[in-house]
Amino acid sequence: MDTGGAADVPDASMTETMTKNETLKKWVGEVAELCKPDAVCWCDGSTEEYDRLSRMMVDGGTYIQLDDSKRPNSYYCRSDPGDVARVESFTFICSERKEDAGPTNNWGEPKEMRETLRGLYQGCMRGRTLYVIPYSMGPVGSPIAKIGFELTDSPYVVCSMHIMARVGSKVLEILGDRDDFMRGIHSIGAPLTDPRQPDSPWPCNVDNKYITHFPETREIMSFGSGYGGNALLGKKCHALRIASVQARDEGWMAEHMLILKLTSPKGEVKYVTGAFPSACGKTNLAMLNPTIEGWKVETIGDDIAWMKFGDDGRLYAINPEAGFFGVAPGTNDRSNPNAMKSFAENSIFTNCALTPDGDVWWEEMTEETPGVLTDWLRRPWTPESERTASHPNARFTAPARQCPVIAEEWEDPKGVPISAFLVGGRRETVVPLAVESFNWQHGTFLASIMSSEKTAAAAGKVGEVRRDPMAMLPFCGYHMGDYFAHWLKIGRQADPDKLPRIFYVNWFRKGSDGRFLWPGFGENSRILKWVFERVDDQAAHVETPLGRMPTAEAIDTTGLDLSQEAMDQLLKVEVEAWLNEIPGIEEHYAQFGDRLPQELRDELNQLKERLKGA
Ligand code: GTP
Ligand code: SPV
Ligand code: MN
Repeated sequence: MDTGGAADVPDASMTETMTKNETLKKWVGEVAELCKPDAVCWCDGSTEEYDRLSRMMVDGGTYIQLDDSKRPNSYYCRSDPGDVARVESFTFICSERKEDAGPTNNWGEPKEMRETLRGLYQGCMRGRTLYVIPYSMGPVGSPIAKIGFELTDSPYVVCSMHIMARVGSKVLEILGDRDDFMRGIHSIGAPLTDPRQPDSPWPCNVDNKYITHFPETREIMSFGSGYGGNALLGKKCHALRIASVQARDEGWMAEHMLILKLTSPKGEVKYVTGAFPSACGKTNLAMLNPTIEGWKVETIGDDIAWMKFGDDGRLYAINPEAGFFGVAPGTNDRSNPNAMKSFAENSIFTNCALTPDGDVWWEEMTEETPGVLTDWLRRPWTPESERTASHPNARFTAPARQCPVIAEEWEDPKGVPISAFLVGGRRETVVPLAVESFNWQHGTFLASIMSSEKTAAAAGKVGEVRRDPMAMLPFCGYHMGDYFAHWLKIGRQADPDKLPRIFYVNWFRKGSDGRFLWPGFGENSRILKWVFERVDDQAAHVETPLGRMPTAEAIDTTGLDLSQEAMDQLLKVEVEAWLNEIPGIEEHYAQFGDRLPQELRDELNQLKERLKGA
């Protein structure tokens, strides 16, 4: 087969002659030789390319174009029911040594895993086109940006990457003949071997999925899934799992964090990040509309932060992404009006429901549930149906620049100086609304023990409580004990006064009636205000065994309909419940053996002592 290929594709965006990078061309040639696509297409990132592939997916039945008067230039698509979320049990870190992947990752012996993938990739793109996607995580040409190539047989992935990353010929130009790029191979694992075989609207490999990472050689090999983080390799695979390893080696941080800009009524600005596990509120917090007078929140990023120290000794964050791949259910004009406007046009919707007039719908999107829909399983749906119309992990893919509150500096290659980290999960019980850590080490401790109920963002049982340190459990590319040590090292090498303050928060406490005690969403601005004022040592606090907590008066509750009883419960340290958590934390820590930093063991003992004395 002629692996040069571009000439084989009608209307090919670009030919391989556009790059002189011999390392790149050789690698693409080898992958094509192995996967045996019918054609190779080098993506240029143009609107023409986006439109052409979208039309092709409409013609092939993958996409439905939404009504242009309601949702201009937008597409709807439904995955295979066997391919709806990240698959953590088939995600592997293939470091040379098993101990470097640590107890919280699946490890694959690199040579064996390469053989396994080589076997799966053999002829896996027959009947399909191999797209070469040059992408940059971070603004093209910025000193912090990283270049990668994703070779994929999925046009859905190409279009999604157009929105989620900076893609195309400009990336090739910047790369020149350097060979320090991330190599990502992705196949949906569904070759069309029989020329008469009809294609499926969402081809994938339901029974055989592998999401594999080779941190030492900066390679990603993914097989079998076309969904989200399994397939858009720039996101979790590159910008978190591999980047976390680079960050450790080079002294910076790659975190599963939103980044927001907070402006006080006086016009003072502080930047805050937040590490919450998947489907635990990052997108919503990043673009909230404050309910308190005079405060403003603007968005820098909603999922990933790369942070490096600036010359002034402060930690600066950039958002390596260019779009939002956000949870659709629950998003509406009240909970997140800015997200609603972000995907008003030029967006992709996956696994929501379809309205009869050609728009999308999901649970809680509107006050009134439409009477008739087509659900994500392509079946007729009415409010009487005994299932949800959209999949709980249905998502929108929207350009970040369309967010009405995107901060003007969101693409500043310098990044923004961070004043506070929020960390926290989804806990119905035990964990109070807000706690400030005593210092960086104590904050690292709180982040390392944080726990959350599992959500539909990953395949598996929903609701089960698990420890998800720094919201990085599924995304840390190396030994979690070493990752804790890296956080502590970052703290040691910095001027303590310039480090972000660390806050442990929980919007998800429930009362005995099973309802959320805290109204959340825009009301979270009240906690952001306390955080802002704490950073300036202004707001009132009390010292508790857990850390510094707001006094009831320190939280601005003007105009908030919240009973005193609810507030008391939200701000209470439940000593007994916390003592009951300790064995679970000890068990969590025990798995890291001697790679658990002594400082964290000490912090746990001190917490125990403080609780016993309380
Ligand atoms: P990923 O994209 O998976 O990383 O998720 P995320 O952390 O960005 O979560 P997102 O903001 O999309 O929120 C997920 C779900 O939590 C949605 O259904 C929201 O409606 C709900 N949610 C978000 N913020 C709040 C909140 O403050 N309170 C309550 N009760 N629910 C919230
Ligand atoms: C998450 O699961 O944290 C996400 C969605 O942000 S995915 O891109 O699928 O990882
Ligand atoms: Mn996420």
